[in-house]
Amino acid sequence: MKHDFETPLDVAAVRADFPVLEREVRPGVPLVYLDNAATSQKPLSVIEAMNDYYRRYNANVHRGIHKLSEEATDAYEGARKRIAQFINAASYREIIYTRNTTESINLVAWTWGQANLGPGDVILSTEMEHHSNIVPWQLLARRVGCEVRYVPITEGGELDMEAFHQMLDELPVKLVAVTHMSNVLGTILPVREIVEAAHAAGAVALVDGAQSTPHIPVDVQEMDADFFAFSSHKMLGPTGIGVLYGKRAILEEMPPFLGGGDMIKRVELGKSEWNDLPWKFEAGTPSIAEAIGLKVAIDYLEGVGMENVHAHEVAITAYALERLAEVPGVRVLGPSDPTRKGGVAAIVMDDAHPHDIAQILDHEGIAVRAGHHCAMPLHQRYNVVASARASFYLYNTFEEVDRLIEAIYKVKETLTF
Ligand code: ALA
Repeated sequence: MKHDFETPLDVAAVRADFPVLEREVRPGVPLVYLDNAATSQKPLSVIEAMNDYYRRYNANVHRGIHKLSEEATDAYEGARKRIAQFINAASYREIIYTRNTTESINLVAWTWGQANLGPGDVILSTEMEHHSNIVPWQLLARRVGCEVRYVPITEGGELDMEAFHQMLDELPVKLVAVTHMSNVLGTILPVREIVEAAHAAGAVALVDGAQSTPHIPVDVQEMDADFFAFSSHKMLGPTGIGVLYGKRAILEEMPPFLGGGDMIKRVELGKSEWNDLPWKFEAGTPSIAEAIGLKVAIDYLEGVGMENVHAHEVAITAYALERLAEVPGVRVLGPSDPTRKGGVAAIVMDDAHPHDIAQILDHEGIAVRAGHHCAMPLHQRYNVVASARASFYLYNTFEEVDRLIEAIYKVKETLTF
């Protein structure tokens, strides 16, 4: 459909880099991949870099005094430096490899949380968190006797900042743990203001960057968060690797997480001495090919430009929100201003269950996610059990939004009235 939205990207050129986007889900039905908040597709350069590691220099890292191990170690540690640069960490020592965002947050709960929190202390989170920024704190609260409290969200899907400041003033908050971008509403939180207020109240701040890091420029020094967590697989990289950024002074003080090889300097039968940062937190053989793949994914994103990625998604989301607003009986959760949210549209329809919506969309070749998206309290807040979520990335087109809208009309014809 004709429209006035513009993108800075040559989307056809971007799409040519992603082999899976050539796929038909059935003969004559091309794939429209709108499930990017769950996981992103991978460019050929990432797939080839991982393939190249296995074909040419597969070896363990930090262990072998031989050519292959040196090459693998250089690539693996080089990736860490690239990641530090991408999020503007002060040092590669502040970049800890984990499996994913969830593990990064659990690492903080088991180490910093276990060592620093106890009865009477409060962890302040929000109603719009992914379960990975709720459940680790609930488990910690059970272990150490602290309490988890949640800042409410407004009907329009923003964090209630007045309530946030009030709770921070009134409660003995030791840790503020918030998302940077909601995986359902798309809301981008004012993390700079949140972190500053947390620090003024004497609390430590953790930001869940799983949904923001793939889509908007991130600068951890400017944000000033003490911990920042994200996953590779949502930002064009492979599954199986994530990152925990932590400020060096705090990481130095923290006890290790998992014990084993590589995280020690010296082991005696009675005691051990921990390795330097960041290896103190990395026990066992790590995800080597995955770190290499993540580095190449970052190269790809920076080649396109994170500002351009974001501008493209704002345009696509603006178009999608405008077109969805035309469809009677369709509601999109979260902010209606596309500049205040990421590329996400969580759809709720009168008389149509999200799973049925997703099934009909799938028949049209359109991949969305249906359910609670690991954010059950958020859906409870809006009195819905689930939603059907379309989420966009740099390779999505305006024409794909048109196909989504056509398919939504088919849902209406099939399921409603
Ligand atoms: N956290 C991912 C999502 O929101 C899996 O879909």
